[in-house]
Amino acid sequence: MMMMAAAGVFLGFSLVLLTGLCQGNSVERKIYIPLNSTAPCVRLLNATHQIGCQSSRNGDTGVIHVVEKEEDLPWVLETGPTPPYMVLLDGNLFNKETLQKLKGSTRVSGIAVTYAKPPPEGFSLDVQCPNDGFGLYTNEHGSQYAHCNGSVWNPLGTGFSYQDFRFPVFLLENENETEVIKQCYRDHNVPGNDSVPRYPLCAMQLSAHMHAVTSSVTCMRRNSIQTSFSINPEAVCDSLAGYNVWSAIKPINTSLTLLPEEQVVVSAARLDGRSFFWNLAPAAESTVSALVTQLAAAEALHKVNDTQSLPRNIMFTFFQGEVFDYIGSSRMVYDMQKGRFPVRLNNIHSFVELSQVALRNNSVLWIHSDPVSRTNETVDTEVQNLINILKTASTGVNVTLQEVGQSQALPPASFQRFLKARNIPGVVLTDHRTTYNNKYYNSMYDMAETIKMDYPSGLSQDEAMEYVTETAQALSEVATLLAKTLYQLAGGNDTVDIKADPHTVTRMLYGFLVRSNNSWFQSIMVPEWKEALEDKPPQFYVTASSMGSKPIPNNPTRLLLSVLANLTGQAVNFTKEQCQNPDKATDAKKELYDYIWVQGPLKDNSTSREPYCIRSTKRSQFAESPAFELNEWGSTEYSTWTESRWKEIRARIFLVPSQELQVITLITGIAILILSFVATYFIQAKADILFTSTEDGGSVAY
Ligand SMILES: *[C@@H]1O[C@H](CO)[C@@H](O)[C@H](O)[C@H]1NC(C)=O
Ligand SMILES: *[C@@H]1O[C@H](CO)[C@@H](O)[C@H](O)[C@H]1NC(C)=O
Ligand SMILES: *[C@@H]1O[C@H](CO)[C@@H](O)[C@H](O)[C@H]1NC(C)=O
Ligand SMILES: *[C@@H]1O[C@H](CO)[C@@H](O)[C@H](O)[C@H]1NC(C)=O
Ligand SMILES: *[C@@H]1O[C@H](CO)[C@@H](O)[C@H](O)[C@H]1NC(C)=O
Ligand SMILES: *[C@@H]1O[C@H](CO)[C@@H](O)[C@H](O)[C@H]1NC(C)=O
Ligand SMILES: *[C@@H]1O[C@H](CO)[C@@H](O)[C@H](O)[C@H]1NC(C)=O
Ligand SMILES: *[C@@H]1O[C@H](CO)[C@@H](O)[C@H](O)[C@H]1NC(C)=O
Ligand SMILES: *[C@@H]1O[C@H](CO)[C@@H](O)[C@H](O)[C@H]1NC(C)=O
Ligand SMILES: *[C@@H]1O[C@H](CO)[C@@H](O)[C@H](O)[C@H]1NC(C)=O
Repeated sequence: MMMMAAAGVFLGFSLVLLTGLCQGNSVERKIYIPLNSTAPCVRLLNATHQIGCQSSRNGDTGVIHVVEKEEDLPWVLETGPTPPYMVLLDGNLFNKETLQKLKGSTRVSGIAVTYAKPPPEGFSLDVQCPNDGFGLYTNEHGSQYAHCNGSVWNPLGTGFSYQDFRFPVFLLENENETEVIKQCYRDHNVPGNDSVPRYPLCAMQLSAHMHAVTSSVTCMRRNSIQTSFSINPEAVCDSLAGYNVWSAIKPINTSLTLLPEEQVVVSAARLDGRSFFWNLAPAAESTVSALVTQLAAAEALHKVNDTQSLPRNIMFTFFQGEVFDYIGSSRMVYDMQKGRFPVRLNNIHSFVELSQVALRNNSVLWIHSDPVSRTNETVDTEVQNLINILKTASTGVNVTLQEVGQSQALPPASFQRFLKARNIPGVVLTDHRTTYNNKYYNSMYDMAETIKMDYPSGLSQDEAMEYVTETAQALSEVATLLAKTLYQLAGGNDTVDIKADPHTVTRMLYGFLVRSNNSWFQSIMVPEWKEALEDKPPQFYVTASSMGSKPIPNNPTRLLLSVLANLTGQAVNFTKEQCQNPDKATDAKKELYDYIWVQGPLKDNSTSREPYCIRSTKRSQFAESPAFELNEWGSTEYSTWTESRWKEIRARIFLVPSQELQVITLITGIAILILSFVATYFIQAKADILFTSTEDGGSVAY
């Protein structure tokens, strides 16, 4: 017993010593403040390169330095006495010059960017020639147009989204959190006159360690080794993948392929976007403008009575992952060639694609066509015919059509992947003649304000959703033009009255760019998918497959499928069981139709809803680059983009003591560790004395 008491006293003493030391400076009790609204930059890989950002395994740490103007940089890059630094970079300085400097410095351990107002001079970290090498123009085909020769589409692009950073870069999405960090900086780090640091200093740790390195070839090979030799295979990267969405005016039997004589007019738009940061892609002009316009055209056409008797069918397609070297369109073409899609390339009569369309100058819409395929007279005549139909359709619509010069190449477009496979007559419609009107291409600033969606102040949510903005009005004109054109291309009469509804357009813009959790989207959403509804706009970043298995549709895809069903489908009198399993219903024709059970509108004066079944021809198609099915990870024909896996993405701030104090703490820690070893050994050695059996003592009350 004596021994035990002695040991106890001894341990107690060590503890007192420890706490005493720690209380000497409150800093030692490292208090971490987690940052809760951040967006990281992550690592992506293609056949040959890795791009994006990463931290070391346990995160990178540095003393915070706020950089709000040029003059704050030298402290980080040269004079500051306590490198490495975590740079709290003002959004306005998140530009080429600053990034270049920070990237080249070994005194920088990471960057946290604050959100700023969209810079009026523009901002794009994407490349100047998007999707170069994967479109129609290569050194083998139309080489005079390859590498954007003759027309640089995104001249503001700095290309930083495609560079490799050796440190983590995070975006701080919440101003209040940014303020917490700045306050910590002001309280502890603001350099005094003597420029000697006064500990403790406020530091930040950014953790975003990436498992994949070098290239998709390397990481996919590692994945496959894992799957063949490991019981618990752990992938290091996943292919970028999602779903294309399509629907047809006349229902198509999806268990067959169309007969060669059945012809289809294809209307196309894209369904994804990106920015420098992961899962941050508001994509207002680059994606939503065309997406919404095409949906409005689809609605307008479905209201026309005689579409079922038109000589040709009309198919609406929305391509996923186009930003990453045309994932969705290349997959659809591949499936069409393999006979795994109900429509084949030979069935395509003509192709009309909407690219960025919301920023028209004087309501001018530019018609782009491919100069290479038009050297074939047959094709040229058909394209000319298509353009004439567009021009006829534009009468009475507030859209001024203009053709770009015959010798200009197509802008980056899904249509290029179809032209690669077959000379299809088609056009791409945009709001720009040469360079993008979009000053924020593939950036976090390509949002509602970029396409001038202004609401009068003081509107309630529902009022704002119904308020027809100028943008909505203008896009509905384009939608009318598109609908009329498709109708005539399908063999319809040009006298039929077709008009897109600006109210639908404005609701969609509200749902896709302001708030997806609105009363309309709530009523048309499948209950299982309702977490896709958020009090903010959806992000259009394509998802990653999970080591070969299909991903769940991302939020914008869910929203699109719901809106498409609502606008082009019909309510049917099916029970929930019949709707979710159409085999149980007579006359469901499930090869032709898709059925969804939606939440329905709110009942009068109640919070409960009236769900119902919608029948439509909307479908989704798994969109992963064919390169992964073919195991051609080094492909130059198909997209090879993969996303690295990671364990943890985390950002936090805390106070660090001076180096000396840290050393003392460490030594104390080690000393205590050794002492406790000695004590344990001592106690164990004398265990028979210390813990004598108490059996003979009878029951002891503790
Ligand atoms: C991979 O991406 C890098 C960076 O954008 C690019 O330079 C390279 O050409 C790409 N590789 C292929 C095979 O496309
Ligand atoms: C920041 O804090 C203020 C006041 O507490 C609050 O009104 C505002 O909504 C917060 N902003 C964000 C983005 O959380
Ligand atoms: C993040 O959330 C945690 C827990 O809610 C809170 O303690 C912390 O202060 C938040 N971080 C910031 C910077 O506000
Ligand atoms: C720093 O210098 C300014 C003027 O040069 C002086 O007013 C201030 O007291 C100094 N502060 C410290 C902490 O020395
Ligand atoms: C032009 O295109 C048509 C249709 O694609 C094709 O049948 C024809 O052979 C082509 N003509 C030439 C001269 O290549
Ligand atoms: C969506 O809005 C409703 C009220 O209209 C609210 O009850 C619900 O919590 C919101 N959902 C989300 C995910 O914010
Ligand atoms: C589409 O949504 C509107 C508004 O909620 C509703 O009135 C209409 O019945 C819906 N259409 C279908 C086919 O469900
Ligand atoms: C819908 O179906 C139910 C039974 O399946 C039937 O009782 C009801 O009358 C039908 N309603 C309409 C509007 O057809
Ligand atoms: C669709 O095609 C399949 C296969 O030929 C056929 O069995 C089925 O009856 C067709 N469905 C309809 C609704 O025509
Ligand atoms: C809903 O409430 C209003 C007044 O709040 C009332 O006049 C109306 O009768 C109610 N309707 C139903 C269906 O209960």
